Amino acid sequence: MFITKSLITTAILVGAANANLGFTGVTTCGCSPSNGPFAVAIPAALAGTHVCCNEAITLSYNGKSVTAIYSGTYDAGAGTQNVALTETAFDVLEDNSSQTSLSPVTWAFN
Ligand SMILES: *[C@@H]1O[C@H](CO)[C@@H](O)[C@H](O)[C@H]1NC(C)=O
Repeated sequence: MFITKSLITTAILVGAANANLGFTGVTTCGCSPSNGPFAVAIPAALAGTHVCCNEAITLSYNGKSVTAIYSGTYDAGAGTQNVALTETAFDVLEDNSSQTSLSPVTWAFN
């Protein structure tokens, strides 16, 4: 039998993450304002070789999805996959404006 192994070099899809409203606690990359208001910050450990300010991430929650630019790092604790979203991006995913954290959220680099 021929067995192949595949190497996973970057985080492709994250299982159960929270998406938090706002960039509180985020180390931003200082992206140009021309990147627009759709921004996401992810754990540094999952950033791999992705280039900050230049790559997009698609996030999904409860049947909705939004694309945001990877714009900083956000660490909610070792091993966590939680992300922080700017309000513009968060508003697309939320069920209603009373929410400040969404779970479960899946996200992946485009
Ligand atoms: C807002 O959405 C959340 C999550 O779906 C739900 O639990 C909550 O009851 C909703 N609140 C209002 C005021 O509709």
